[in-house]
Amino acid sequence: MTLPQNRRYAVVGTGSRAGMYVDALTTTYADVGTLVAWCDTNPTRMAYYDGVVTAAGGTAPPHYGPDDFGRLLEEQRPDVVVVTSPDATHHRYAAAALEAGCDVVVEKPLTTSLEPAKTIVEAIEGSSGDLVVTFNYRYSPRNSEVRRLIASGAIGKVTSIHFEWALDTVHGADYFRRWHREKAISGGLLVHKSSHHFDLVNWWLADVPEVVTAAGGLRFYGDKNAAERGLTDRPARSAGSPGLSSDPFALDLAADEKLRALYLDAEADDGYIRDQDVFSPGITIEDNMGLLVTYRSGAILTYSLNAHAPWEGYRVSINGTEGRLELDVVERSFVEGPNGVVGRPAVDPSVNPDDPSFGGTTNPRPAGERILLQRHWEPAQEIPIPEGEGAHGGGDNHLLDDIFRPTGTPDPLDRRAGYRDGLRSVAVGIAANRSLETGLPVNITEFGLPLDR
Ligand SMILES: NC(=O)c1ccc[n+]([C@@H]2O[C@H](COP(=O)([O-])OP(=O)(O)OC[C@H]3O[C@@H](n4cnc5c(N)ncnc54)[C@H](O)[C@@H]3O)[C@@H](O)[C@H]2O)c1
Repeated sequence: MTLPQNRRYAVVGTGSRAGMYVDALTTTYADVGTLVAWCDTNPTRMAYYDGVVTAAGGTAPPHYGPDDFGRLLEEQRPDVVVVTSPDATHHRYAAAALEAGCDVVVEKPLTTSLEPAKTIVEAIEGSSGDLVVTFNYRYSPRNSEVRRLIASGAIGKVTSIHFEWALDTVHGADYFRRWHREKAISGGLLVHKSSHHFDLVNWWLADVPEVVTAAGGLRFYGDKNAAERGLTDRPARSAGSPGLSSDPFALDLAADEKLRALYLDAEADDGYIRDQDVFSPGITIEDNMGLLVTYRSGAILTYSLNAHAPWEGYRVSINGTEGRLELDVVERSFVEGPNGVVGRPAVDPSVNPDDPSFGGTTNPRPAGERILLQRHWEPAQEIPIPEGEGAHGGGDNHLLDDIFRPTGTPDPLDRRAGYRDGLRSVAVGIAANRSLETGLPVNITEFGLPLDR
């Protein structure tokens, strides 16, 4: 598939994630694409990206509000619309862009609930446009390697997967500060975050999820949990709070140039507060979740997500008829307190806490990744993980190539994700949310979505 040179790109939602696409189109991919419009509720954030474009020698694109999206499509005639707005708004832009014949690049999750998913299906089925969901985790070499190993038959037919994801008190906490904390906007972490993980399993197994049972709740963040643990008198937000520098759950927007420009300086426009306290009222999502999912092939997935772990990473065990694969990833071995590690002097920037010899003693959980393959009747073997250049072990470069410079050469790993991949992953999260409400198993096949591979 060779695409015309210099396609016209519109970006909807000019927050932090949009940066990856704007940077790409103003540098490495400037020869194949031009930014022709922004659409956002917030003029300050759009102006921030004007600065990025003009600094790279381009022309600042015109600004449109959400109600002007139809006019944007008519006036700017984009070839591609990149959707990086909050999750519950994705369907509206994706559907309108597809109806206008545009291609769509949509951030995960494809959407947050069933009716919007159907809206996207209707739009894509009547459109000449294509839709890509940017599941960047697929491109991470360790995850690609798992796909390759399973497809090669290394463990035979997969019978079950156990998948545990730990989000730490830096990354996990961040979902409880802003729009992600509202289920109506993010779908909760089972949609917003786990759609990455469910996509990995669906893709690794090349299978279709069918029945989902879930349990979970808000057990750590939020005002009620804080009160139970004696955490009272919390500030409503970090900015201006007296304990800002000593509070491990605070986020200092002013200390980071980009966070200040995108959020603190933009608050007056729309009242979007990026640094709400993670123990304040109003959180409607869960922070501890467990799932049982059965697949069409008969394989079962047991999955858990915790959003307040002391380290960040994931562990996956995949059982097959001929052996077992294990993937262990530690992305951050621990979170440093505001005044240095507990029991240690203040932070020495030369110290790398992920160094196994950290502090002169052994850190038994250094950051790193490992794949073990063990076939029946054989000792385990460690499988080397290919290294590439750039972010996520070179994964991000492959993803951006797939979006902006596709070659049409078939990818043996099948990493480019289309709308059915987006639907299959989000369907698990939507079903899980339903199961949380009812306490009952939910059959995804009854959703009426096109989930076949
Ligand atoms: N693939 C990944 O690993 C990854 C990482 C981060 C974010 N994301 C996804 O990117 C999307 C954006 O996340 P973010 O962290 O940049 O959020 P953000 O809050 O920083 O940015 C969202 C932007 O959308 C704008 N907006 C709000 N309502 C809108 C509306 N109705 N119409 C148009 N724009 C609107 C906001 O003003 C803001 O500028 C989300 O869907 C998120 O899931 C994906």
